[in-house]
Amino acid sequence: MCGIVGYIGNRKASEVLIKGLKRLEYRGYDSAGIALCNNNSCQIYKCKGKVQDLEKLLQDKNAEGSIGIGHTRWATHGEPNDVNAHPHTSMRGNFIIIHNGIIENYSKLKAGLEEEGYVFKGETDTEVLANLFEYVYLNHLNNGDKISPEDIIRETLQMVEGAYGLVILCNDYPDFMIAARKGSPLVIGIGKDEYFVASDATPIIEYTNSVIYLNDDDIAIISRSSLNLTNLKNMKKKPDIQKIDLKIDEIEKGGFDHYMLKEIYEQPRAIRDTCRGRLDFRSKSIHLGGLHNIFDKLAGAKRIIIVACGTSWHAGLVGEYLFEEFARIPTEVEYASEFRYRNPIINKDDIVIAISQSGETADTLAAVQMAKNAGAIVIGICNVVGASIPRETIAGVYTHAGPEIGVASTKAFTAQITVLTMMAMAVGLANKGLTEKEFSQLVDELYIIPEKIEEILERSECIRDISEKIKDVSNSIYLGRGYLYPVALEGALKLKEISYIHAEGYPAAEMKHGPIALIDEKMPVIVIATKDNSYDKIVSNIQEVKARKGVIIAVVTEGDVTIKSIADYVIEVPKTDFALAPLLTVIPLQLLSYYIATMRGCNVDQPRNLAKSVTVE
Ligand code: G6P
Repeated sequence: MCGIVGYIGNRKASEVLIKGLKRLEYRGYDSAGIALCNNNSCQIYKCKGKVQDLEKLLQDKNAEGSIGIGHTRWATHGEPNDVNAHPHTSMRGNFIIIHNGIIENYSKLKAGLEEEGYVFKGETDTEVLANLFEYVYLNHLNNGDKISPEDIIRETLQMVEGAYGLVILCNDYPDFMIAARKGSPLVIGIGKDEYFVASDATPIIEYTNSVIYLNDDDIAIISRSSLNLTNLKNMKKKPDIQKIDLKIDEIEKGGFDHYMLKEIYEQPRAIRDTCRGRLDFRSKSIHLGGLHNIFDKLAGAKRIIIVACGTSWHAGLVGEYLFEEFARIPTEVEYASEFRYRNPIINKDDIVIAISQSGETADTLAAVQMAKNAGAIVIGICNVVGASIPRETIAGVYTHAGPEIGVASTKAFTAQITVLTMMAMAVGLANKGLTEKEFSQLVDELYIIPEKIEEILERSECIRDISEKIKDVSNSIYLGRGYLYPVALEGALKLKEISYIHAEGYPAAEMKHGPIALIDEKMPVIVIATKDNSYDKIVSNIQEVKARKGVIIAVVTEGDVTIKSIADYVIEVPKTDFALAPLLTVIPLQLLSYYIATMRGCNVDQPRNLAKSVTVE
């Protein structure tokens, strides 16, 4: 979703900003812009389209200045066009701002400003905010009040409802910028006589690894040589400077055509890293340090509620099967957006687990707050270190998938399932849902999962061939049972996200209650049918599809002959425990989507309309 980058120092700001915006492209956006300040005057360049288009716009311009702000916008209020693109300037030019998040009371504020003579160029809530800053500022100026721009920002933000990550330039004070956060992340990078501001650390890490993550209500006043941190209540705060351990090659393509493909291939490494120091193969044990303080409560929980969105929600569904089977704890999985608005029943002995790659998804974050307010213990499973969800939860486990840049989640999904598996196993052993022998067999099996994924990746040619055969279809159905039902949902989501082919995931047995009506010789049905306790049932489901001339693509266990004799195409995966099968079976589905989408000429890393980190509800 929208990306922010700001720079103040001695470098050419336009270069830092354009490079930074390119690093943020993965978040998904539809217009881009920058403001550059030089010799007390600021110029704005912005346009609909990609950062490349913005670069073209800058080509014949004198883009000088060592202070500037840049933004990639994912449209919420107002269509993506040049006018609605950020930065936005107030009507009389006093304030220039970029903004992530949504100002919820913007229409009321806008009406008030219009009564005061303000005229708006576009439809965004951000322009309303720029004008509100100016209105408050000019009122004070006219009254002869001596008030700092920081106080103006503070006073104005008290009038605002909603979420913001903001960077503000004030024309009358050209030597500093102001950053403010509520609900939408901002990180400040500290260099020598220079500072960087960004919505995540990716634009910053090639310059510095010293950063400050702003907290809600923080306001930072940044000049070339100083940073002053206060909050909305005007209390001075001591900046908490942290070192980030993110390397530049982790956010580059490393020889792959796309981030998505790189990330699919990184999964063996990501799972090994997620298990490192936690899954001990020799002593047959699992240590999850981040759960230490609440582990007994988790093991004694009467119920687990998992909240998440998108792919993370699918990982949560796998978690439901795992916790119920290994630990015998009733588990519910909720879309965070539904959970937060439906007055759910949360009991004292319930544990809420929030799963999020980014740790910033607005609905998941709100569900965490709500569960906390209701007195629940909330655990986070997140990939981005230092993000809002890990900071809002009292316990948690990081997935160590590394930065995920492709909008369609791949390695974060398998890393989330790895964490859920370890959690359910550890709890299962503690509360005797699993015997020591069962536990130790699972440890052995989980330990070698990365090798088995490597084997699947080596067979990608066969998946590419199948993709070639079905790339022109308009619809598809994915079927699975048990642990493989969430995999069917995830496979369908991957395909629709990046290839724009309509895809539906179903529990295989549900097919006869509706989707079977869609099956004809043009309908590919992707069946995830590895050997488990519902194998015979899914073979019958495949027969039902074949009887109606559907095209079967089956993901099967190596050596399967039964399905091979019925299906049109098969993709083999190594044998594993039923409960670990999602970690293997999702890999061919990710590759299938990737190849189909690239064959159709789609932009797999930045699919249309989608955002990597959905910071609005
Ligand atoms: C967006 C992304 C998905 C992701 C979902 C939840 O829709 O495009 O890939 O699964 O958000 O994001 P989270 O960061 O909370 O896992």
